[in-house]
Amino acid sequence: MEDEADLTGATPRRRPKPSVLEIGGRRLKPSTLMMGHGFDPALSEGSLKPPIFLTSTFVFENAAAGKRHFEGVTGKRPGGADGLVYSRFNGPNQEILEDRLGLWEDAEDALSFSSGMSAITTLLMSFVQPGDTVVHSGPLYAATETLIGRIFGRFGVKWLDFPAGATRAEIETVMEQAKAQGRVPLIYLESPANPTNALVDVQAVAAARDALFPDSPPPIAIDNTFLGPLWHHPLRHGADLSVYSLTKYAGGHSDLVAGGITGSKDLINPIRMMRNTIGTITDPNTAWMLLRSLETLELRMSRAGENAAKVCAFLRDHPKVESVGYLGFLEEGSRQADIYDRHCMGAGSTFSLYLKGGERESFAFLDSLRIAHLAVSLGGTETLASAPAAMTHLSVPDARKQALGITDNLVRISIGVEDPDDLIADFDQALAAI
Ligand SMILES: Cc1ncc(COP(=O)(O)O)c(C=O)c1O
Repeated sequence: MEDEADLTGATPRRRPKPSVLEIGGRRLKPSTLMMGHGFDPALSEGSLKPPIFLTSTFVFENAAAGKRHFEGVTGKRPGGADGLVYSRFNGPNQEILEDRLGLWEDAEDALSFSSGMSAITTLLMSFVQPGDTVVHSGPLYAATETLIGRIFGRFGVKWLDFPAGATRAEIETVMEQAKAQGRVPLIYLESPANPTNALVDVQAVAAARDALFPDSPPPIAIDNTFLGPLWHHPLRHGADLSVYSLTKYAGGHSDLVAGGITGSKDLINPIRMMRNTIGTITDPNTAWMLLRSLETLELRMSRAGENAAKVCAFLRDHPKVESVGYLGFLEEGSRQADIYDRHCMGAGSTFSLYLKGGERESFAFLDSLRIAHLAVSLGGTETLASAPAAMTHLSVPDARKQALGITDNLVRISIGVEDPDDLIADFDQALAAI
């Protein structure tokens, strides 16, 4: 492909030929676009799939092109790098991944990271300053709470939270308190919350934010790991940034660790600058694996969601089960059901199983499973089960555990894509073994 020299004398970057995004007025679905969007085989020797670009740096066509690229990387010129520069900033595999990731939520831009936590850390570092108060929903994933409270706390950042299911009035009260303390740089949500599965009313948060901060509204970021990107599109409901642990459903095979953020170019730009500086980008190999994973994302998540509905229906009626905390079983007319109806397109495949009894019963159940694996994490092709009180949330103080419903009889389950009746047989025999 021939490129014309621009006015600076630098040849603009060779871009992939534009992707086909619609046919006959029909907008193509992300599940279709995952197979080819953002990659032009003609730029890679005709290779059908993108090669893995294992290189630490990229050769400039000439000195003027190098200067132009660095103007983009350092923020002298808005919009990020105009070309490939150095693998801490960008790379072909990461850029294809980011183009595809953004499609699921119809976002303007997206970034990939080395883990979900490095995405969240880079996000916070991009917006907060000493003395600020971050407003967040509670609970958050335990490491996110540690990051905001203990680590950013060391640099003079404060926080205030409201419970995940809070009403608009309750959310406004907390925002007012935060505003009275000084600058509010960011509103950070997680929905459904880990591990309670409680949903946040994103529309109410956005309305409260707009009412209280009409002049310079702080961005709303939301951890969309549990239901995204298939069953929950928070950017449609007033969130500005959607954050992912791609380790979970997006990666989907429990064989990689990665993170992502999608949103508008205006908000993604400062996060990209921070990522360029601190080097939290995903590596080319992991980005390539994620491209492969995204091709089957809809298939995997749909099957896992259908399986979870069948397994939960079985578990709910079992005599050894106290209750099942599954988004498909929300009480009709309840506030949680109202949020679900307005925000969610599916109940997911991660839920809480409360057994009759305590630690002895939950351990006996976990130790008897034959198909499901005893491991933390979620969103993989295989079914996983764990005991949060004794594992992921062991260090959480007892009073907070009680308040969040993280009791000794709680087993967290993430359903995979196995045969649903095989899974039911496994749970049946494990319950019998208690
Ligand atoms: C809701 C949520 N957010 C963020 C993370 C952190 O992601 P990672 O382990 O990819 O850093 C996790 C991990 O379990 C999570 O469950």
